[in-house]
Amino acid sequence: MRMTPAVILVGILSLLAAITLTVVYWPYSTIDRTPSDIFRQRTVVEAAGRKIYLENGCVYCHSQSIRAFDWGHGADRIAQAGDYIADEPIALGSQRTGVDLSQEGGEHPDDWHIAHFINPRYTRPSSIMPPFEWLGMARIDTLTQYIQSLGFKNADIRMERQRYWKNESIKAYEAGPDANAKWLAEIVPEGWRNLPNPYPTTKASLQRGHVIYQKFCIGCHGPIGDGMGPAQPWIYPPPLNFTLLKGREISGGIIYYQLMNGITGTAMPYFKRDLESQKIWEVGDYIAVYFINQSDANQDPRGIDAAWEP
Ligand code: HEC
Ligand code: HEC
Repeated sequence: MRMTPAVILVGILSLLAAITLTVVYWPYSTIDRTPSDIFRQRTVVEAAGRKIYLENGCVYCHSQSIRAFDWGHGADRIAQAGDYIADEPIALGSQRTGVDLSQEGGEHPDDWHIAHFINPRYTRPSSIMPPFEWLGMARIDTLTQYIQSLGFKNADIRMERQRYWKNESIKAYEAGPDANAKWLAEIVPEGWRNLPNPYPTTKASLQRGHVIYQKFCIGCHGPIGDGMGPAQPWIYPPPLNFTLLKGREISGGIIYYQLMNGITGTAMPYFKRDLESQKIWEVGDYIAVYFINQSDANQDPRGIDAAWEP
């Protein structure tokens, strides 16, 4: 065959068609558009919140996708293609400067998110996330509704739990300090309540507890433990005033359990992803010694002879 310009043109075009077919159309046709088991459509407000999310560069710091080996990054569910069928563009994100948000809905109640958007340092003193107070309350509310929908049906289940426990915690708080302390103790499973702090109180352990308190707690519970940190105006029931626990039911085990798991319905977050167990005992002992005057850390010599955990 002679290489006329026409033949060359036809050759180029068929090569191009073959490439387009194999690297564009073929993969495109294999995309599975069946919704995943958790998928549901977004409400109008949630869709508006997603727009705010995209416009403000949240995606540069937050991912919305968990793979099998991402277990340390937050969400507890492996992402599936069917989770994203309504998204255009898809906001997977590639940076994890902040945590993964694919299952963020219902991890915290709304008041925690609002305080956090006003200024992330309120709920997490060492955060490097920028404040979004300038968005104004209306847009912060819209954004919060979007964030609370992340995880679709799973998020809805978690939000239902948050709302149920929010009611319970408000009832207990409004019934006064006695009833509140009793409620806070009774939501901790029996076995944990009688567990004293296994680590002894030492000068070093108290100082470590103090540093942890400043990094994680001070924005809510305040520098003197009276619950008057800068997050306080945004949070209800307000951050606990530790001094009200003096002489009321409290133990190392109760504090440990609440710190590890958080208190669903209240803004009190869980710290099991941030702090190793010894750090949880030590910050608990710090508040017990300085704010509640009621530490059980030195009951018999029972210290665990373990190294400072990494
Ligand atoms: C510069 C990076 C950065 C940007 C931009 C950013 N974040 Fe964050 N974000 C973080 C970091 C770091 C954390 C972890 C510390 C904290 O809680 O603030 C975080 C935490 C969060 C959390 C709490 C997760 C949890 O349960 O602990 C949410 C929700 C969140 N960001 C949403 C957003 C939204 C919505 C936007 C956009 C309006 C945004 N972030 C923009 C860095 C960022
Ligand atoms: C975002 C705000 C916030 C942060 C941050 C926070 N807390 Fe809380 N904390 C709360 C709220 C709200 C409650 C529940 C108040 C209520 O229901 O009356 C609470 C309750 C508690 C309790 C329960 C006491 C009991 O009687 O069971 C302990 C202990 C506690 N916080 C310790 C801490 C420590 C230590 C830190 C830091 C590692 C911390 N909190 C960080 C808001 C916060």
